[in-house]
Order: sequence, then structure tokens, then C-alpha cells
Amino acid sequence: MHIGPYPLANNVFVAPMAGVTDRPFRQLCRAFGAGYAVSEMVTSRRELWNSLKTSRRANHEGEPGPVAVQIAGTEAAMMAEAAAYNIERGAQIIDINMGCPAKKVCNKWAGSALMQDEPLALAIAQAVVRACEPHGVPVTLKMRTGWSQSHRNAVALARAFEGAGVRMLTVHGRTREQGYGGEAEYEMIAAVKDAVRIPVVANGDITSPEKARAVLAATGADAVMVGRAAQGRPWIFREIVHFLATGAHLAPPLVAEVRRALLAHLQDHYALYGEFTGVRSARKHIGWYVRSLPGGEAFRTEMNAIEDSAAQLLAVQRFFDALAARMDRLPAGAAAQEERLGEVFE
Ligand SMILES: Cc1cc2nc3c(=O)[nH]c(=O)nc-3n(C[C@H](O)[C@H](O)[C@H](O)COP(=O)(O)O)c2cc1C
Repeated sequence: MHIGPYPLANNVFVAPMAGVTDRPFRQLCRAFGAGYAVSEMVTSRRELWNSLKTSRRANHEGEPGPVAVQIAGTEAAMMAEAAAYNIERGAQIIDINMGCPAKKVCNKWAGSALMQDEPLALAIAQAVVRACEPHGVPVTLKMRTGWSQSHRNAVALARAFEGAGVRMLTVHGRTREQGYGGEAEYEMIAAVKDAVRIPVVANGDITSPEKARAVLAATGADAVMVGRAAQGRPWIFREIVHFLATGAHLAPPLVAEVRRALLAHLQDHYALYGEFTGVRSARKHIGWYVRSLPGGEAFRTEMNAIEDSAAQLLAVQRFFDALAARMDRLPAGAAAQEERLGEVFE
């Protein structure tokens, strides 16, 4: 599979998640087999580009290509400017966010709220494509199935976006109104796939290799994108890739491998965020890794009270050393995520 000139290693992608898929986490997912990763969304509001938050989100140091940056906003001209700005800073693919339901985005009529205003949504896609074309940068777009149950307009929009020059569409199988509730439905993704010739990526509630295979079969999509199920379980990508290729399951990861990956993830995380913020924002990641492991809940409570990185690393080492004394590999299905897919938007 390709996006514009860029060949991708496979068709299992990590979803953009603000506050989660920062550069360290994206790199980890890629190392564990994700074929492609898009950054957390970057605002199109120029006055925020120099903020610490935006500059961290625009950090792609050492990231394997193609570097894809997602932009969010409400005005075509600003979105075009944001695209150009990110291309100057190394973006090789620009992704437009029309999928995000968060109030702080939607109150400003961005994210999935744009699906309610088709002319504006199209104007944004056209303006961003115009801004990217001279640089040879492909534009992709992520959306939901529609605004509400009675306004599921993904098919009409998909055709319009394809006409505007968008090169790949990701569809999360929920409406804006649904937030993260209910179950993702895949019929509308299949309808989008039938309606366009550009690659379509299916997203929503993919939590296991079997589910990935079923969603690919049900939608005919070219790829799947995994979000929440990768939290604390970045090896899900190699599990899915292996299962899609062979029909067989990989063994769960060795405890020693998870320990090593998490410690490296934490070092990378502290390096990006610094000691104070890094220790605090690492807690959610550590919590996701250990949540379904024996003793994980008690460890989380203890770990959440730790305030410096050296002690946090030591606590994680001790937890995994104790686990390694009891078992070689994570228990099969230990990180089954179904029960964890709640509303966790930052
Ligand atoms: C914490 C969090 C942050 C998210 N941030 C973004 C974002 O920045 N851009 C975006 O397009 N979608 C965002 N999403 C939506 C995900 O990309 C994905 O569409 C959604 O979680 C459904 O996939 P899943 O069921 O595999 O999690 C976010 C989701 C979560 C849970």
C-alpha cells in the first residue's frame, strides 16, 4: 500500500490520539510493527504554533518516515497555512482531522463538526490540497460516518474529498453524536470503500487480530487503524500483522521484552516532556501497561504517588522483575482491551 509516493510497510496503522500518540509512542508502535502512524492533531491557529504543546507535537526527531502530521481547524485559509507551516517543518503527508468529537475542537466548529457543513468541509480539503500540491505532499483525511444517526453523510463527503484530490480516507465507524459510545459500525465504511477509488482505512473498536481480519473482510478496506487498544499494548500491531499474514497467533510478549520496551518508552518520554511533566504524563501509559496484569491495580495506585523519574523507573523495574519471577510471558489475552475502550479523550 502507498500514500502518494510513500510505500507503507503494512496495512495496520496506529490512530492519532491527542495526548497519547506523541513521537515516543508512535516510534514504539512502529517498532512493534505498525505500518504507519499519524501525529496527534496540531492546531491551525497560528498564535499557538510556538506553544510548548504544539512544538512537542511537531517533534519528529528520529521518526521513521513518512512523517504524517494531522491538522485541525475551521477556516480553509488557516488550514492551508498550517499545512504549509508543517511541511516546512518536515511533514511529508498532511492529514485533515474531521473525526475528532472533543468539545474544545468542536465548539470551534472543527474536527467532526465540519461534517455538518459540507461546503466548508470541501473548501478546507481543496485549500489544503492546493497548499500541499506544489510540495508533492499528499493530503489524507480522517472522518466519522456522519454527524448524527440521521446525517450519515460519509459517502457524499468521501466522493467530494476524492474529487478535491485527497489521497486516502480513514473512517471511524461512529457518528459525531456517538462520541465513543455504542459500538462502531462498519457498513458505512464499506459504503465509502465502494464509492471511491482512493485507499480507505477502517477504524473503530479494533481490539484483536480476529477483529482486524473481520473488519477488513466486512468493509473491503485497504487498511485498519487501531487506537485505544494499542494503549499499553503496542505489540498489538505485530500480533495483527502476523495473524493477517498467517492465520496463526503470535505468542504473547515475554515479560522481559515488555519491561525493556516500557523502560525505553519512559526514557524517551521524559526526554520529550522533561522531568516534571514527563513523570506525570507517563503515569497514564504505565497504568495502561500494567492494568490487566496481576498486581497491576495496586501498583498503579502506588506508582501514581511517585514524583520523580528515577523512582518511577525503579518502581516499574521492580514490578516487572517480580512478574518475571512468576511468568515468562504475559498471560494470553492479558491485555484484552474490550473493557477499556471507554471515553478517554483528553
Ligand atoms: C485519547 C484520544 C485522543 C484522540 N485524538 C485524536 C486526534 O487527535 N485526531 C483524530 O483524528 N482522532 C483522535 N482520536 C480518535 C482516534 O483516532 C480513533 O478514531 C478512535 O479512538 C476510534 O478508534 P479505536 O476504537 O481504535 O480507539 C482520539 C481518540 C482518543 C481515545
